[in-house]
Amino acid sequence: MAPRSSIAARAGYICVFLFTILTLAATIEAQQNKEANYLIGVGSYDITGPAADVNLMGYANPEQNAAGIHFRLRARSFIVADPAETNNRVLFVNLDACMGAQSVTLHTLARLKSRYGGLYTEKNVIISGTHTHSGPGGYLQYVLYIITSLGFVRQSFNALVDGIEQSVIQAHENLRPGSILVNEGELLGANINRSPSAYLNNPADERAKYTYDVDKTMVLAKFVDEEWGEVGAFNWFAVHGTSMNRTNKLISGDNKGAAARFMEDWYLQRSVEYSILADTKKLDFASDGHREAFHRVQSEQVSHEFYKSSGGKQSTKLSSIMHRVRSPMKDSLKPPFVAAFCQSNVGDTTPNIQGAFCVDTGLSCDFNHSTCNGQNELCIGRGPAYPDDHFASTKIIADRQFKRAVDLFDSAKEQLIGKIQYKQTYVDFSNVVVKLPNKQVIKTCPAAIGFSFAAGTTDGPGAFNFEQGDNQGNLFWKVVGSFLKKPSDEQIECQKPKPILIDTGEMYAPYAWAPSILPISILKIGQLVILGVPAEFTTMSGRRLRDAVKSTLIQQSNGEIGNDVRVVIAGLANGYSQYVATFEEYEVQRYEGASTLFGPHTLSAYIQEFTKLATALVKGNDVSPGPAPPDMVDKQLEFLPGVLMDSTPNGKNFGDVKEDVPANASYTVGDKVEVEFYTGCPRNDLLTEGTYGLVELLDSSGKWIPSYDDDDWSTRFSWYRPKTMSPESYAVITWAIPQTVQAGTYRIRHFGSYKHLFGSVKHFTGTSSSFKVVT
Ligand SMILES: *[C@@H]1O[C@H](CO)[C@@H](O)[C@H](O)[C@H]1NC(C)=O
Ligand SMILES: *[C@@H]1O[C@H](CO)[C@@H](O)[C@H](O)[C@H]1NC(C)=O
Ligand SMILES: *[C@@H]1O[C@H](CO)[C@@H](O)[C@H](O)[C@H]1NC(C)=O
Repeated sequence: MAPRSSIAARAGYICVFLFTILTLAATIEAQQNKEANYLIGVGSYDITGPAADVNLMGYANPEQNAAGIHFRLRARSFIVADPAETNNRVLFVNLDACMGAQSVTLHTLARLKSRYGGLYTEKNVIISGTHTHSGPGGYLQYVLYIITSLGFVRQSFNALVDGIEQSVIQAHENLRPGSILVNEGELLGANINRSPSAYLNNPADERAKYTYDVDKTMVLAKFVDEEWGEVGAFNWFAVHGTSMNRTNKLISGDNKGAAARFMEDWYLQRSVEYSILADTKKLDFASDGHREAFHRVQSEQVSHEFYKSSGGKQSTKLSSIMHRVRSPMKDSLKPPFVAAFCQSNVGDTTPNIQGAFCVDTGLSCDFNHSTCNGQNELCIGRGPAYPDDHFASTKIIADRQFKRAVDLFDSAKEQLIGKIQYKQTYVDFSNVVVKLPNKQVIKTCPAAIGFSFAAGTTDGPGAFNFEQGDNQGNLFWKVVGSFLKKPSDEQIECQKPKPILIDTGEMYAPYAWAPSILPISILKIGQLVILGVPAEFTTMSGRRLRDAVKSTLIQQSNGEIGNDVRVVIAGLANGYSQYVATFEEYEVQRYEGASTLFGPHTLSAYIQEFTKLATALVKGNDVSPGPAPPDMVDKQLEFLPGVLMDSTPNGKNFGDVKEDVPANASYTVGDKVEVEFYTGCPRNDLLTEGTYGLVELLDSSGKWIPSYDDDDWSTRFSWYRPKTMSPESYAVITWAIPQTVQAGTYRIRHFGSYKHLFGSVKHFTGTSSSFKVVT
């Protein structure tokens, strides 16, 4: 980029700046005079699990083990309470995780119970996953979901439970008078259907009601504190977290996690601009306009906190100091803005919007089977940036969601008004008696998985290959594989036309392979109704469920609930039971049908049970709690070896630079700076709310100011061992210099920890030579 020094350029810059400020002032003015009718609170906390050795959850690829961080994972929460009856409240948590899990929900609720008594229970809490396929696995309690992670991984589990608890504490403590605005709109170009041949098996007259074969609607709730103004935004949009593919080893929130990071950064920048307007002393055009001011405001606080907590000593515990790179402004009590991009009826959607192609021929795959010459491994979906890499595709899908969310946020006008209500029950889906609309009475079946499951999807083909109890599998598989069971005749009949690959619902050793008792729940805040479903509903399944709940609410409420009620599905919520396809899609037995656990009428069972719940909600009737789900966390088998010890080669210390920047190096926007350090295993300390990598800027007084950390899009922290069992390991911190960079002198730091054979964990930092960035 050429230096922007000409007077004309500067004048243009100032004009844009003033325009932004005026627009901002107008927007903020317009949005702060809604009457506060609820108590609202938002919170957010780091849930990044182990960044080494642990299998990433989603593709079930045994080779896809964590080896660093692209950006961090977070739990984002909102609480809404009735000011007249403050115990009447609902809590929604959005996790940058592949899915919510029964184990995590049960243990989080137990924590909340010991902290807050009966305020947050299974009745009024939804914990929903974004479905990123790049988060550490091993936190689910059922056997099938922890095979590739070598069983349970307690560190992954704890990172989730601890982080959710912290994010709820923040939301709870921020609870203050405010209002919620709701808005919705179409978002094109961010999802397509990956199983269109199954969708086409739905009745023609039903399909004719819709323009698209996936939902394109984004619904957004905007939270406005009476005094602080905007504090958060949560939206729901259905698209798989598979922009990063099955070869990625860096922890990542995928497209939704990235969209959330972009929107939170956008809001921070905007509020800094607004505060500059309010405080004319900071309006210092001579020093390069508002963007630099943004950095200044950001950094003053950071450096203060940083030096205070580290005390300049090498071995200080470094967790929890670095997140301040994006703290709210100094002197403000207002908590950081929380933006959450939540998952919905995600089942048959994909962000790989160019479609699926054969890697050998470049031709489209077989339409009905997603194969190339009969082989599923060769058929792979392409993201929007293809042939550019999956980071670029992730960014595009994230940007599209982020920008649409900003539009909906800025133009939201409709205020949520009305009662806060909720209903929840547990259902044993292995045995639900369902009365179909044609009066036929049928039953659901114990869980089972069909053959197409082994083939995977075009987002990650050929996932599982453990049909035969082979001796190729990992240790956990060797232990559990011998428990594979032949399905009973009754089960074969019940699941038809699904050919059964694994009869998970009839396998209980060493503990249950699949869930059968699952929670379903409804949270209602005025016109907004959120359905918590413990599965991935396909597009048409979601539409049928929403329609059934909406019409029940309207019919049963005697006119109290009108057509303006908005029903959204929160997917992968509170528990996980794979997919829910329609009866017609099930007949086709693609991946989604093969993964619909409880037989062809699974969706009908959900609709029946949700209709009862919705009726009870409007009538104010009690619902039976249903059977209690099992908590098997204490029985779990864990085969992932711990970190034995770390070491460095002779003459090297932890934190020493292995590959430095060249002497007197100078870089510009778009360049990549890379520095490598001797390090220890990241599993020694997750550095929660901290960072493994930091880019620092030298300010005019000679202080180093933290500017980018491992939660920034522009940085990557990669970690590797020279050999599989080696106690030595290396950290590579990469910084791709972004457009918005401020020119100056920089350096790169690494924070890590190591373990002696019988010793405790010790912390260290390492620092590169300084280098110049010119713009
Ligand atoms: C896909 O399957 C349907 C139903 O069996 C069939 O009518 C159609 O011709 C098939 N399409 C292709 C492209 O093979
Ligand atoms: C995954 O993405 C990487 C980087 O974009 C690409 O090189 C690789 O071919 C992709 N692999 C699969 C299986 O999609
Ligand atoms: C780096 O810059 C310094 C000061 O300008 C100079 O003395 C030194 O020779 C330079 N080193 C290299 C390797 O260019």
